[in-house]
Amino acid sequence: MSLLIKNGEIVTADSRYVADILCEHETITRIDRDIAPPAGAEVIDATGKYVFPGFIDPHVHIYLPFMGTAAKDDYITGSQAALVGGTTTLIEMCCPSRKEDTLASFETWMTQAVGKSACDFTFHMGVTKFDDKTEAQLREIVRRGISSFKIFLAYKGAFGIDDTELYRTLKLAKELGVIVTAHCENETLITERSKELLAAGKTDSGQHHESRPPLVEAEGVHHLMTFAELTGAATYIVHLSCQEALDEAIAARQRGVRVGVETLIQYLTLDKSYAELPDFEGAKYVMSPPLRDKRNQEILWNGLRDGLVQTVATDHAPFDFKTQKPMGRTDFTKIPNGIPSLEERINLLYTYGVKAGKIDLHTFVNVASTQVAKLFDLFPRKGAIQPGADADLVVFDPNYRGTISVKTQTMNVDYSAFEGWKIEGRPSVVTVRGQVVSRDGKFVGKAGHGKFLQRQPSHF
Ligand code: URP
Ligand code: ZN
Ligand code: ZN
Repeated sequence: MSLLIKNGEIVTADSRYVADILCEHETITRIDRDIAPPAGAEVIDATGKYVFPGFIDPHVHIYLPFMGTAAKDDYITGSQAALVGGTTTLIEMCCPSRKEDTLASFETWMTQAVGKSACDFTFHMGVTKFDDKTEAQLREIVRRGISSFKIFLAYKGAFGIDDTELYRTLKLAKELGVIVTAHCENETLITERSKELLAAGKTDSGQHHESRPPLVEAEGVHHLMTFAELTGAATYIVHLSCQEALDEAIAARQRGVRVGVETLIQYLTLDKSYAELPDFEGAKYVMSPPLRDKRNQEILWNGLRDGLVQTVATDHAPFDFKTQKPMGRTDFTKIPNGIPSLEERINLLYTYGVKAGKIDLHTFVNVASTQVAKLFDLFPRKGAIQPGADADLVVFDPNYRGTISVKTQTMNVDYSAFEGWKIEGRPSVVTVRGQVVSRDGKFVGKAGHGKFLQRQPSHF
């Protein structure tokens, strides 16, 4: 089985040139000018198009029992939506509740993906409690090929851990060379402020961001950074939304703390006024940390451009507007948190980042693919276009013009947070390990083609 992509403009994190790419079996075997097609090869003409390494979403939820309900996608719909949008690898948060057994949960999450996912996948293992049994199980999970943990400083009683558990998790991570990804918000402040708002009759979706303002997130980052400094563990702040939180991460980095920063496509493009929309429309835009004041968008774009922010994810967590978001119609604390965007991350980042002049093409590839692969022990198998790398490629048509709509999306959710938004450019062909899986916005691959990616820890 071979695939030849001809005459595309190859763009990686640090290079840009026109060449042909030959893929044999699952890998890239040759990059050169004028490669003659081997007998039986599938040939794709990429003239006038970019060829990017497959994009990696470092933070998604596919199987997510949460806030009394469950996210709507499964690995069939979720992986297909990812591929249509150019994302060829998913890193999912494996999020057991505190009551669940850690190893059994890891196996449950694997069962959700294996045989269903059309794109490659791995997990950040959620550490939602830490005792002797958990520690032994985490060692076993790392032995099975997981090299990153996830902890929550928010959601006490569900996923959140206390400071003793945080300290022990970071100590173990340091010993094992595992990087610890973290949701940083101060839970006590959220709880107290939410109670005050509800008692004052402030129950609508626009109150959600009032209950967790920027300082709540900044305190969470500061807290994590103190523990990271004392343990020496490598850390990664997920879904960072605002200047105050970024300042804390940068200050810690200047002290020598090892910290990566992820922002989301939602924070780069949407602001808190969306969550304030009337008639419960704002519920579509409720997530945590919340959408912020618009001034933060420039700070995040600049952070990406200057290397202060390493990655752009989606935190994909789809809950239906008609049947699930209304759980919080009279109490914003009960609105299932999440803004679906797995399918649109790359198109939005290209249109509102590259085309708008906020980041260049290399930064675009770096923050949505290469840097993710490097941080999470997937490079150069993923995130690169070079002989030996997996043949995960995105042939991208910069001349496409379109409009986002729930009517045409692959994600299994009943609304789009970006309904009516214009898109300039989209993937025209997407491959996973040499197989064409998407063409012009349509999934054409096979469920179950995706592989679990075993990773070796490197953050010693
Ligand atoms: O609102 C969000 N972010 N939902 C998903 C769960 C999480 O905190 O990542
Ligand atoms: Zn989170
Ligand atoms: Zn998340």
